[in-house]
Amino acid sequence: MAEKRLHPRSPCARRTAGITLDHAAPLYDWLAPLMTLGAEQRLHRRIVESLALDRPAAVLDVGCGTGTLTRQIYDALPAAPARRVCGIDAAEAMIDVARRKAGNRSGLEFAAALAEELPYPGATFDRILSTFFFHHLNYDLKIKSLAEIWRVLRPGGQAAILDVDIPYTRFGALCAWSGYWLFRQPEIAENIRGRLRDALQESPWRNQWSIPSRHSGYLSLFRLVKPQETTP
Ligand SMILES: C[S@@+](CC[C@H](N)C(=O)[O-])C[C@H]1O[C@@H](n2cnc3c(N)ncnc32)[C@H](O)[C@@H]1O
Repeated sequence: MAEKRLHPRSPCARRTAGITLDHAAPLYDWLAPLMTLGAEQRLHRRIVESLALDRPAAVLDVGCGTGTLTRQIYDALPAAPARRVCGIDAAEAMIDVARRKAGNRSGLEFAAALAEELPYPGATFDRILSTFFFHHLNYDLKIKSLAEIWRVLRPGGQAAILDVDIPYTRFGALCAWSGYWLFRQPEIAENIRGRLRDALQESPWRNQWSIPSRHSGYLSLFRLVKPQETTP
């Protein structure tokens, strides 16, 4: 199919039907706090708390963008004996910014990669997170990415997803639908209609997830727990 987008996409980004943001990378750190109406820091703190990072761990951030939260998680982890925090994003320009911001933190790694084809062996990570990412995927990719998160998380591990979900206040509905109208992104409407919940139920996470908290009238924090005993 002919490339219809106005913005150039990096080679990795061209391999996915997800909405990728190479073009937004230089401005993303300015725009993100505006898009969350100033709630970004509070939401990041909530995610870090929910991941219970009390001991050195291997953590993956899926759709990490410019890696702000990835770096925050690295800094929140105890340093000894070792910590490994990885961020992946399909947009290579995002990964370039994330690597620049990471400085020389050993064990903080960024890679251009697709969520639906994670480049890690099974059971690599103790914790996985993803923020504001799933509303960039169509339904099929949501299910594939959730299956990949299941695969690379170790049994007994946990994942946290913060994303657009069914609004629970009028103001939240206004914010969520405004995002849809502004970006003309059908994937956002899917989330508003509860399709991320449907995708969780159709994925290996069936009945292994809950929503411990809701935010800003239209966001949900999903908690995914992989049982100790799993069938391969
Ligand atoms: C709205 S940004 C979220 C960035 C960051 N997690 C945050 O909370 O600010 C969504 C990111 O998903 C990336 N993305 C879209 N489709 C992807 C895919 N299939 N695999 C990996 N990343 C993808 C985009 O390039 C973009 O950087």
